Amino acid sequence: MTAQSETQAITSPRHVQDLMTLLRGRRSVRHYQERPVARALVEQLVEAARWSPSPHGRQPWRFVVLSSLKNKMVLAERMGETWQRNLAMDGQDAAIVNIRMEKSRKRILQAPVIIIPCLYMEDMDHYPDEQRQADERIMAIQSIGAAIQNMLLMAYDLGLDGGWMCAPLFCPEVVCDALKLDTRLSPQALITIGYAAADPKRRERLPLDSLVLYLDEDFA
Ligand SMILES: Cc1cc2nc3c(=O)[nH]c(=O)nc-3n(C[C@H](O)[C@H](O)[C@H](O)COP(=O)(O)O)c2cc1C
Repeated sequence: MTAQSETQAITSPRHVQDLMTLLRGRRSVRHYQERPVARALVEQLVEAARWSPSPHGRQPWRFVVLSSLKNKMVLAERMGETWQRNLAMDGQDAAIVNIRMEKSRKRILQAPVIIIPCLYMEDMDHYPDEQRQADERIMAIQSIGAAIQNMLLMAYDLGLDGGWMCAPLFCPEVVCDALKLDTRLSPQALITIGYAAADPKRRERLPLDSLVLYLDEDFA
């Protein structure tokens, strides 16, 4: 999809009254206006994340927020090196690799705010066996997904939009090193936040009846 096929975005606070309208309205945005985002709004996003469900209520997440061109450049550069190596390993054509790299770099540099949700396992349970330890980690990661969704919904309600990029997941140590983060943090995603440049085309959803298996019919 190109920016030309998108329509002019509405970026005033939406304050959606009806939850289903909010859930259906949230969308992934990949092009933003240059307009900066107020810190108070970013705080509301993190506040929304804070109220997400988490395993044992331990809140195994921390959120790194950055907005300077300097930090965005360092991040894009360092993550780009890893991605370039991975794409080359996949045998991707060098010209296509360059186009994809440039697109991703622009997405990071042009986003007014970037939030990096990180896994923080210190307060979680620790098990002697590998299997339960791995399961504990999965639970924590699942809850980060819930926290991210809370942030994205809050962003949409405030007239902002967000975009989810998975890149940090493939190089958490590189992200920590690039941004000089505590190495107990494991970056899981990169969420771009800003005012949409245009309304993106939405992805279709699978029909409801293809997603659900009702084993019983004992309902009111
Ligand atoms: C775990 C996860 C990883 C994602 N990674 C990316 C990504 O790296 N780049 C991207 O453009 N979108 C990414 N997305 C966004 C999806 O492409 C998007 O949510 C999906 O196409 C549905 O569109 P919608 O969010 O507008 O409803 C990711 C979403 C999730 C949940």
